[in-house]
Amino acid sequence: MNLTYFHSFQSLKVLLFGFCVITLFPELVVSITRHYTFNIEYLNVTRLCHTRNILSVNGKFPGPRLVAREGDRVLVKVVNHISNNVTIHWHGIRQKTTGWSDGPAYVTQCPIQTNQTYTYNFTITGQRGTLFWHAHISWLRATLYGPIIILPKKNESYPFEKPYREIPILFGEWFNVDPEAVINQALQTGGGPNVSDAYTINGLPGPFYNCSSKDTFKLKVKPNKTYLLRIINAALNEELFFSIANHTLTVVEADARYIKPFNTDIIVITPGQTTNVILKTKPYFPNSTFLMIARPYVTGLGTFDNSTPAGILQYKQQHKSPTKNLPFLKPTLPFINDTNFVSNFTRKFKSLANSKFPINVPKKVDKKLFFTVGLGTSPCPENTTCQGPTNNTKFAASVNNYSFVLPSVSIMESYYNFGNSNNGVYKTDFPDNPLNPFNYTGTPPNNTMVNNDTKLVVLKFNTSVELILQDTSILGAESHPLHLHGYDFFVVGQGFGNYDSNKDPSNFNLFDPVERNTVGVPAGGWVAIRFFADNPGVWFMHCHLDIHTSWGLRMAWIVLDGPESNQKLQPPPSDLPKC
Ligand code: C2O
Repeated sequence: MNLTYFHSFQSLKVLLFGFCVITLFPELVVSITRHYTFNIEYLNVTRLCHTRNILSVNGKFPGPRLVAREGDRVLVKVVNHISNNVTIHWHGIRQKTTGWSDGPAYVTQCPIQTNQTYTYNFTITGQRGTLFWHAHISWLRATLYGPIIILPKKNESYPFEKPYREIPILFGEWFNVDPEAVINQALQTGGGPNVSDAYTINGLPGPFYNCSSKDTFKLKVKPNKTYLLRIINAALNEELFFSIANHTLTVVEADARYIKPFNTDIIVITPGQTTNVILKTKPYFPNSTFLMIARPYVTGLGTFDNSTPAGILQYKQQHKSPTKNLPFLKPTLPFINDTNFVSNFTRKFKSLANSKFPINVPKKVDKKLFFTVGLGTSPCPENTTCQGPTNNTKFAASVNNYSFVLPSVSIMESYYNFGNSNNGVYKTDFPDNPLNPFNYTGTPPNNTMVNNDTKLVVLKFNTSVELILQDTSILGAESHPLHLHGYDFFVVGQGFGNYDSNKDPSNFNLFDPVERNTVGVPAGGWVAIRFFADNPGVWFMHCHLDIHTSWGLRMAWIVLDGPESNQKLQPPPSDLPKC
């Protein structure tokens, strides 16, 4: 008997056995492999009477939904038909041991070049809810983004009332010009970037902008039903308040983790965050139409456009189209800099943490880290004029005063292929604490210059980590939505002013802290997070305000392999793009 025959004979037996098992216990078939193709291609889009040839996935804007169930394996073949290099990041997907499919350019992969293809391959484990995918190179995510919808396993239900319909709501920003020109100009001059021309709800600015009333998102609902809104903030540079006139929302999930439900009329959501809310419609057909409105939350020097994106919540009666000319009701939103509202709102998030969805918060900490996050300056190159905060400087941003320099090759490939020496691509001495401590939220130091380098933190597998993220007042205290790739972390504490390591830990919530992948570091305050370093690979961490990322508010972690085979970073796929 030759080996091939033996092999197929074995698989036949496996197949037959499998068939019987499936017929007898159909509920065992819970996970499948889902195949997607993402063609990155040009698309003509007109908003505010400006037509642009934007970048899209499959000619859709916003991009197509990626739908899967918890437990499913997802294969997305990305084909680059545009002239820019591109990568796609599956924001919030844990990517356990599959860092090659994470997507940040020059961190876990070289970008996909024109006419090249790369297949992202990952399994969704232990997550359900809403996430999103977006381009992860320069500012291409301005138009390359779309929802990731993770349904519960087939035999599982939601821990809340089953919705009648589920509707993604994506916030974005529209630029009348090419966003790449905006960021390139900002980096050249060292000044703040030009602001976008509109915020959008599902790609549409709404009726309050010039030449836009036909581009309004309309949510048509029936009375007395339960809707699940899957809300995603894909805006580049703005945290947003959001409210629907005369309707209370019940927040049930954050960053693909269930939370203890709470009611609110207004939500606030940072770029990089996603949240599911339940909207119960009025029991009877109402005599008005309801506006849903977003508005930026801006602190510090943050530049913003103070315009108002709006959509419409419209009731329709059975088999009838919506009644026209009903009066509009408008929600009231907090002031643009209402940090107290934001702080009170974020404190309401607690993990559901029940017996079905238990959480595992690190109680003991192996490694304590303290990172300052904030703005700073770089020198203006000789014989040029710059438009930074002072006339001979450029804007910069940093973590522990290091402004992270992206290499021109993939960090994770260097790590995988060259180990400790890593071919000189990066250094592993990122400081655990600020090198020059100061009164972080008091008077800033005279010297605000940042260091430029490619330094990483190295963690042993399964280290329990506590990280304090401390905002600084350099060039103005500002809220920073910090996003960690490859992980969800527990937000165990937050406060204003300087973190006090003697006093503050006693108030940490180790019982039901919310578990997220993106947390807003309060303007002029701090946040404490904990996680187990149980995912080997190289993981990017950065402010999800793209201008801050571009200025260097980013760093990366190396998590070493564990002893077991399922605790090791998998070998790179054969189609991994080359630089
Ligand atoms: Cu949503 Cu590194 O990004």
